[in-house]
Amino acid sequence: MIGSFSDRNDLETKARLILDEYNRQSSEVCFKSASANWNYAVNINDDNEKIKLRESLENVKFQKESWKNISSQFKTRDSFKDAVLNRMFQKISITGMSAAALPEERLKEFQQIKSTMTKIYSTAKTCAYEDRSRCNLSLDPDVTQIMKESRDEKKLRHAWLEWHDKSGVEIRKFYKPYVDFSNEIARTTNFSDAGAFWLREYESDTIKEDIEQLWQTLKPFYQQMHAYVRAKLGETYKDQITEDGLIPAHLLGNMWAQSWEHIYPLVVPFPEKASIDVTEQMKQQGYTPLKMFQISDEFFTSLGLIPMPPEFWKESLLEKPKDREVVCHASAWDFCNGKDFRIKQCTVVTTEQLVTVHHEMGHVQYYLQYKDQPLVFRRGANPGFHEAVGDTLALSVTTPKHLKEIGLLDESTPTDDYQTSINFLLGMALKKIVFLPFGYLIDKYRWDIFDGTVKETEYNAYWWKLRKEYQGVKPPSVRTEEHFDAGAKFHVPADVEYLRYFVSNVIQFQFHRSLCKEAGQYDAQDPLKPLHNCDIYRSKAAGAKLAAGLAMGSSRPWPEVMKVMTGQEKMDASAIREYFKPLEDWLVLENAKLAQTPGWQS
Ligand SMILES: *[C@@H]1O[C@H](CO)[C@@H](O)[C@H](O)[C@H]1NC(C)=O
Repeated sequence: MIGSFSDRNDLETKARLILDEYNRQSSEVCFKSASANWNYAVNINDDNEKIKLRESLENVKFQKESWKNISSQFKTRDSFKDAVLNRMFQKISITGMSAAALPEERLKEFQQIKSTMTKIYSTAKTCAYEDRSRCNLSLDPDVTQIMKESRDEKKLRHAWLEWHDKSGVEIRKFYKPYVDFSNEIARTTNFSDAGAFWLREYESDTIKEDIEQLWQTLKPFYQQMHAYVRAKLGETYKDQITEDGLIPAHLLGNMWAQSWEHIYPLVVPFPEKASIDVTEQMKQQGYTPLKMFQISDEFFTSLGLIPMPPEFWKESLLEKPKDREVVCHASAWDFCNGKDFRIKQCTVVTTEQLVTVHHEMGHVQYYLQYKDQPLVFRRGANPGFHEAVGDTLALSVTTPKHLKEIGLLDESTPTDDYQTSINFLLGMALKKIVFLPFGYLIDKYRWDIFDGTVKETEYNAYWWKLRKEYQGVKPPSVRTEEHFDAGAKFHVPADVEYLRYFVSNVIQFQFHRSLCKEAGQYDAQDPLKPLHNCDIYRSKAAGAKLAAGLAMGSSRPWPEVMKVMTGQEKMDASAIREYFKPLEDWLVLENAKLAQTPGWQS
């Protein structure tokens, strides 16, 4: 029990000192572990894997010991007057308890399982369609490019099946042990299962219901998109669209059918009007990966945000090296020392990757903004916030207005007439709206596995049940329980929570709307200033509003951070609906003309 007031103050002073020391030491341990992780991710080999596993073990041991030490000195549950102090203790306690959950040998086994799954995924090679004995195709860039560019149904089918065989099938046997280990850690840490453990970061008891609610609000729009695209695809792939109304997953321009932007040419509403894919322009103008990052940096600094430090430019890996295996999946890195921040991306010069560049730069901007917070608060307000920063800026960058401004779109191209706007919005919806059911189902799938609803014998059947139900897509061949098609998506073997991307896709439009108002670029009453054509470039006011939220890190519950950035305290689908309103209206009429009934039999 805590006694008198002055005892309390003494206790808080002592607690602060201990936390300062913890903060200093854990930053060092984190730096070492991040460095070892980085060295492995940019140079996959057995030596580097060993070092990586050793360092991450050291990190866990440190957390365990620290927590033992700290918790022996304080009764931590809300013992302090200072809410920030309580929040810090609460976060350290979760880290500490989960670090202590497994004995060292079993922890090693768990780390090894995770590392093996990611390695299988990152180094998988598939065989070519034209020559089945040539088996040197990587996901990035080879298979991705086939999925994106080929319009040959058989070739697409082959690429899809190859990838799912060479990644998912190989990963399957590791997944059940991974699930068991994850649950054990979560339960020792007082969560019901690993799904609940992930969801803790959203700090809400109703998060699952809130997400379902958001999805229900957006589903009718998704179904309109689905119906329209299905009708258009039926023109290209004559016998592929059948009675059930489901779209074959290999025909949508992306391995996971999570973004359909690459089939834009097959579905463009007004083909004679301008398209906003500026890939050709970028190539003609001699864009390089480095130049794409410089362009992005310039956009951030035009808002008064923090420029990338020299270490970033020196140490980042911006192109795929030829002499070694790397984890190509793009990522941004915080080395916990307030100085080193890097991006690893196998960048290709395309409009799509220009958006990815902004996405990753958004992570680093967040790291820079909260770098002076104590280490435990150097996180997104919730995981979705972290994913939303770069995407929010990219909503401005990819407007025709901005592309003209930076010389990627010819000044004379007319862009604000109705038909060009519909083309543009459809292109955006092929990314943002189409992604929503996918962004939701990946974790719905894993929540239901973690909590025991779905057994190992149903891993693949359940995956396809959700994909049919939510996305309205079906596999290109019969699937069985030898397959593990969820494992063919990076975040599943890599143990990365995925709800963050769904949340990001919703809240980035709330951020965009708020920053656009701040920049004087959006007015709901003014038809000449629609939300989808807003560009916040050079608005210091918008930048300041964004920075104020980012700098808070996770030191306050996310609704408070959102309030700073948007004036709202809830996730809300109204901004995304507002942005796409003209397209949604157009789709309803167009589908009626095409005699398409939205929906499918799942
Ligand atoms: C990759 O790692 C190996 C073994 O640790 C090392 O010898 C080699 O120099 C590294 N390659 C690069 C390019 O860093």
